[in-house]
Amino acid sequence: MCGIFAITSNRRQDIGQILVEGAEKLTYRGYDTVGVATVHKGRILLRKDKGRIEEVAAKLGLAEMPGHKGIAQLRWATFGAPSKVNAQPHFDCDKDIAGAHNGNIVNYLPLRELYTSEGHIIRSMNDGEICVHAVERYYDKIGDMVEAIRKGCGDLRGDYAFAIMHKDDDKVYAVKMGSSLFAGIGEGETCVSSDLPSILPVTRNILNVHDGEMLILSPESIEIRQISDNSVVERSPYISDADIRVAQKGGYPHFMLKEIHEQASSARSLFNAVREPYITNFEQALIDAERIFFVGCGSSYHATSVASYYFNDLAGLSAIPVVGGQFISQFGQTIRKGDVVVCVSQSGETKDIIDVVHHCKERNSRILSIVNVLGSTLTYLSDIYLPLGCGFEISVPATKTYTSQVILFAYIAARIGIKQGVLSKDMGETLLDELQTQLPDLLEQTIATTTVKARSLAPYLDQFPHFYVLGYGLTHGVALEGALKIKEVCYIVADGMYSSEFKHGPLSIVKEGYPIVFTVAPNDAEHLVNHLSEVECRGARIILTAEDNSLLKRYVAEEDYLAVPSSSHYLSPIIQAVPLQLLAYHLAVFKKIDPDYPRNISKTLTVR
Ligand code: M6R
Repeated sequence: MCGIFAITSNRRQDIGQILVEGAEKLTYRGYDTVGVATVHKGRILLRKDKGRIEEVAAKLGLAEMPGHKGIAQLRWATFGAPSKVNAQPHFDCDKDIAGAHNGNIVNYLPLRELYTSEGHIIRSMNDGEICVHAVERYYDKIGDMVEAIRKGCGDLRGDYAFAIMHKDDDKVYAVKMGSSLFAGIGEGETCVSSDLPSILPVTRNILNVHDGEMLILSPESIEIRQISDNSVVERSPYISDADIRVAQKGGYPHFMLKEIHEQASSARSLFNAVREPYITNFEQALIDAERIFFVGCGSSYHATSVASYYFNDLAGLSAIPVVGGQFISQFGQTIRKGDVVVCVSQSGETKDIIDVVHHCKERNSRILSIVNVLGSTLTYLSDIYLPLGCGFEISVPATKTYTSQVILFAYIAARIGIKQGVLSKDMGETLLDELQTQLPDLLEQTIATTTVKARSLAPYLDQFPHFYVLGYGLTHGVALEGALKIKEVCYIVADGMYSSEFKHGPLSIVKEGYPIVFTVAPNDAEHLVNHLSEVECRGARIILTAEDNSLLKRYVAEEDYLAVPSSSHYLSPIIQAVPLQLLAYHLAVFKKIDPDYPRNISKTLTVR
């Protein structure tokens, strides 16, 4: 949620241009409001409004804003409606300081009252403005930005990162307290951002930032200080080899479609990203665990749901999949040493997950994680993390990262299964080989064979305000994931369910032509016949994804059978997610919705 990008330069006087470019690369983090503040000739210029970056930039001429330093912010609204006044950055009272944040100030209301009673002019209902007044409150007494920021942070509670600047120096100051922040050191300019894609066009010389640190950015260098005691932190930058082209659409109309197509290559790169001894240590921790919990939110939770079936079948281990936001109230009280909590997150910043990590660490359980964004908070907090190696996923709906999460779980479960004698060596190694060598081609074939049918179904599905996606066993998580994609990008109530549960109530909704999407793994086809018959005899239109199967064909019209290539039973939840992603994508496009930026959503949710 929300993205900030700030830069100070001795090479540019037209800082608006690079601020807009940086902000555009953070669009996926928030698109309710946009603002840019620059410092030009000893004055702070501020332009902001409601809307997406390209609209607001064109309307307000953001790219033309002059100056040598500045801050851009994209907002996903939590405190305060999406409006011009609540847009960030914000001024302090006398407009000699401006700043913007990402995250949540949980004591916003009491601070607002306190600062107002002290005479501060607070213009918005947005908690980002409180960060600026917190600094001003001390700056006006001390006259030193570093000290004022340190003391200001003492007032603020919550998880946040902010960038702030004074009109009278060449510096930008930034703070990381629980929300993501990366820094870059270029030639005659330095910058900070909520994420790497906006830094890479400036420099590949990246500095990781940890919670509790403040950065003092000058055009030539960055100084890191501990906020708690003002001590200087020595840390060297590293050269990022992230592929900058990934943040461009590369000829596809949307990032979502591009990322669906990238699933084969990210399935390949996963096995280069996951290294020894981390994978073996990860597996051993699971083998040694007294209890195993898999925790994720949204798509990452759905990956854990599939994973629990893999662990049961392949590894002979029971693992409990839990939704991140539910974990503490459901299991928090009993968490203890000996438990292993596997946190799954694309961003590594999801607040519900980070809360679980803190809770479980306090109780001495081990934290393992599977994460895509390296340098994210989750990577620092985990005892062992395994990277997904997917590169940037820009589109708000998760696609390639979900797939890679499931692949990695299958891989780990199979390796544990072989080690523990649950799987025969032959069967285990065949599966490992399929995952590593055959799966990328199967994913490509699936896209090729199911795209046309998925697109053709859009006009029919568009007539229904709701429908169901049903899965069974291994494909239950796939059904949940397919339904989530449809809800997220098509604004249709799609309910993902266990197919055997359907008769326990929802069956009453079925009438002539009502669409029900099934996802069926090969070994479950026979079992699913009952579930298909129950809805078919009541007139449902069955849309189905499965490999070619004569039994299933009896229930489905040719044009509604999204046939995937034959594979092992255990590859099917990975492959079958693809037609459902395509169905959601083409339905969104048919409904003229931009699937990359569905309304009200942000890719990274750093609020509880
Ligand atoms: O970064 P995370 O994997 O922790 O994000 C979790 C969810 O917010 C995310 O998967 C969300 O459900 C997706 N936008 C769904 O497509």
